Amino acid sequence: MPVILAIESSCDETACAICRDGQILSNIIAGQAIHEQYGGVVPELASRAHLQNIVPVVDAALKKAAVGLPEVDAIAFTESPGLIGSLLVGSQFAKSLALSLNIPLLAVHHMQAHVLANLIPRPADPGKGGSQGVATAPMPSFPFLCLTVSGGHTQIVLCEAPLVMRVIGETLDDAAGEAFDKSAKLLGLPYPGGPLIDRHAQGGSPDRFPFPEPQIPGLNFSFSGLKTSILYFLQSHLAADPEFIRKNLPDICASIQHRIISILLNKLHRATRETGVRDLCLAGGVSANSGLRKAFYEAGRRHGWNTFIPPFEYCTDNAAMIAIAGHYKYLAREFSPMTVSASARAQW
Ligand code: KG4
Ligand code: ZN
Repeated sequence: MPVILAIESSCDETACAICRDGQILSNIIAGQAIHEQYGGVVPELASRAHLQNIVPVVDAALKKAAVGLPEVDAIAFTESPGLIGSLLVGSQFAKSLALSLNIPLLAVHHMQAHVLANLIPRPADPGKGGSQGVATAPMPSFPFLCLTVSGGHTQIVLCEAPLVMRVIGETLDDAAGEAFDKSAKLLGLPYPGGPLIDRHAQGGSPDRFPFPEPQIPGLNFSFSGLKTSILYFLQSHLAADPEFIRKNLPDICASIQHRIISILLNKLHRATRETGVRDLCLAGGVSANSGLRKAFYEAGRRHGWNTFIPPFEYCTDNAAMIAIAGHYKYLAREFSPMTVSASARAQW
């Protein structure tokens, strides 16, 4: 029945979660609005905000979970990848806490944790939790494939056991979230533009502007060509009509979103054919996209896949996923030495 206190600080969210025996008791996140005015995350400002946030966030997570520090069995933290200054705040805090409590340390890979968010137990029907014997939602069976789509990564991961997974496809340039955010920027929308493209796409026609689908061999992705074609597309239309974006925003957003989704799901389909795996998961912030969720479930029905998407709060950066990864590492006794250090890029 290990109690794990987990810290996530890889980018611009300071987060802490507590889990007992793999059940999430609390999941607290402090965002950082300061970056909005700069159109992207400013690393130095993120580190400073983490320093301010980390103690209150850990305190709130313990209180919400009704757990005292002496009950904690191990400290999990995001070791990599991420912004080095941000990671260092979380890792130094985690190491200090583990040292002072004389308990083990669990270094977690952020991208593996995104995948493991799919293994967080949750009620089958949120909002209808009965007073006793709450049924849990079905979970993917091993092996499963996970399409992890975030602001920094786009990967297809083959997961054979909680701690046995490998990347079988990834982006060669921009991540899917970047494709959304950079497209949004070209349209004059504020950062992060992904959710805004999602919103404006509602009611737009996804076939109105057929952006090209890159022909990348194997299971890898590329999004930089799409960004360039959107740039040229907008430049030529704006030259003819300066009001082009304003007049056509829903159709442009729906068409961009449609192309990003088709690039993602075509590769995922190929991965199922190559591996024979039928259990498929989504992870990462972009899995909040309503078009992607719908298309993923539809593709599942069409191709006979078992499809899983974690609840929104476990898709975007959070510490619950670090806690569940820490839980499995604890069970496997995969403890980290105190000499462990954060790393911006790390082997998986
Ligand atoms: O996983 P995440 O929270 O942070 C990273 O580790 O990057 O993902 C953030 C990314 C951003 O690019 C954001 O624009 C995108 O997820 N995103 C969305 C939506 N919600 C978040 N993209 C498209 N549609 C959404 N609804
Ligand atoms: Zn992430």
